[in-house]
Amino acid sequence: MNKKISLFALLSLATCSVYAEDLTKYQDESRAVAMPFLKQLGAANQKAVSEGGPDSAVKVCRDIAPQMTGEVSRKTGWKMTRVSLKVRNPMLGVADAWEQKALMEFEARAAKGEKPETLELSEMVQEPAGKYFRFIKAIPLQAGCVACHGATEQIPDSVKARLNEDYPHDKATGYSVGQVRGAVSIKRPI
Ligand code: HEC
Repeated sequence: MNKKISLFALLSLATCSVYAEDLTKYQDESRAVAMPFLKQLGAANQKAVSEGGPDSAVKVCRDIAPQMTGEVSRKTGWKMTRVSLKVRNPMLGVADAWEQKALMEFEARAAKGEKPETLELSEMVQEPAGKYFRFIKAIPLQAGCVACHGATEQIPDSVKARLNEDYPHDKATGYSVGQVRGAVSIKRPI
């Protein structure tokens, strides 16, 4: 009897550690995709702002970012997106329930003094259609973002006019540097 119990305990321990290893592996693999994406996007934004001003930088957030996440999604089979609690583009940016919870946790942790660039979460979840590994990493607002996501007085009139025209339901303004603007999210079928 005792032997049976200990064997069972051992087995469940083994399953547990395999699961933990998988989680770490999936997490590392997600990071390896998300980090260069954020780095490239930040650099592209900085370059566009310094070369052509905020008017020309619109293409980075509007065209280049979805192009990059789309390419990663097609190549890996994972869904990769940028999400937020206050979106400019509702088609791409609205967070699902899991992402909303994570973003709210990030905001609370940032308010308690955690550095926004270190905020991330991963979890294995079961959904009606199957099992998924989920990863989410905060995108902090940087100085080069305020011309389009900052307070009204920080947004140049030409950008304001364009945003009003293209995104009449825009909610993605009023952020200050260091705040969590949103996150990059990866959903991987297992
Ligand atoms: C020149 C204006 C401009 C600048 C500068 C800019 N953005 Fe954006 N941002 C936009 C536009 C326009 C969209 C909507 C894109 C779309 O249509 O999908 C957007 C969307 C986003 C989204 C997706 C969620 C949403 O609201 O739809 C995130 C996240 C984001 N921006 C983060 C940033 C960060 C971080 C920076 C600075 C590194 C930045 N942006 C700089 C214009 C800008």
